[in-house]
Amino acid sequence: MISVLADRVRAAVHDDFAGDATGHDLAHLDRVARLGAALAEREGADPEIVAVAAYCHDFHRLVERREGHARHVASSACGELVGAALLRAGAPATLAAPVQACVAFCDRHGFAGDEGSGSLEACVLRDADNLDAIGAIGIARAFAFGAVLGEPLWIPDAEAAATYVPGRTSSILHHFEEKLLRLRDDMLTESGRAVAEERHAILERFVAQFRDEWFAGDVAPALAR
Ligand code: ADP
Ligand code: NI
Repeated sequence: MISVLADRVRAAVHDDFAGDATGHDLAHLDRVARLGAALAEREGADPEIVAVAAYCHDFHRLVERREGHARHVASSACGELVGAALLRAGAPATLAAPVQACVAFCDRHGFAGDEGSGSLEACVLRDADNLDAIGAIGIARAFAFGAVLGEPLWIPDAEAAATYVPGRTSSILHHFEEKLLRLRDDMLTESGRAVAEERHAILERFVAQFRDEWFAGDVAPALAR
């Protein structure tokens, strides 16, 4: 348990996220809260604000899901939903502004041209959230969400977008190129960068193996030996 308050906020959002099958389920929120609190300890940020914000950071994905993924919704558009969750949890009113600020910052990306600047807690939350988008779980989440968006696995001939645009893209492998492989260099904290190194290496190995299998066709390496 991270803190009594974080647990109450978790309980307040439980039913909204428990049944999600797009990679934004309660387990994602738990991982971001846990990793975020650990990063916060190392960075001198407030672990409770980060953990509470972690449980409130994906309401924009909930809105998208309820609308059948017809449009992209920014996390900054969900301040009221965040405030309502904190009220349900009985959180002190003073927590609303710093938590809403963390949430509004968490879907910005330097490589998408909207870096902006955030509090230390907001930077830590963004790093923790982005770390859950890389590594083995990140790969799994990309395929889960890509399937919901109706993206094919890969279209090798399709051009990758030079600037990341949130939402549906030409294929799931393009999402790796357009976003996931750029997250390591978009980390905002030292400890986030350290974790990102390991997870980035997993992404690179996966993409190289995927391409090898795709192009090898029926001449798999073991048959050539
Ligand atoms: P997060 O929950 O980390 O804020 P997002 O909400 O942007 O990240 O996306 C959730 C997960 O779905 C991430 O792992 C992300 O890489 C993946 N994802 C987002 N957009 C796409 C896409 N167009 N195709 C495939 N996966 C995607
Ligand atoms: Ni998230």
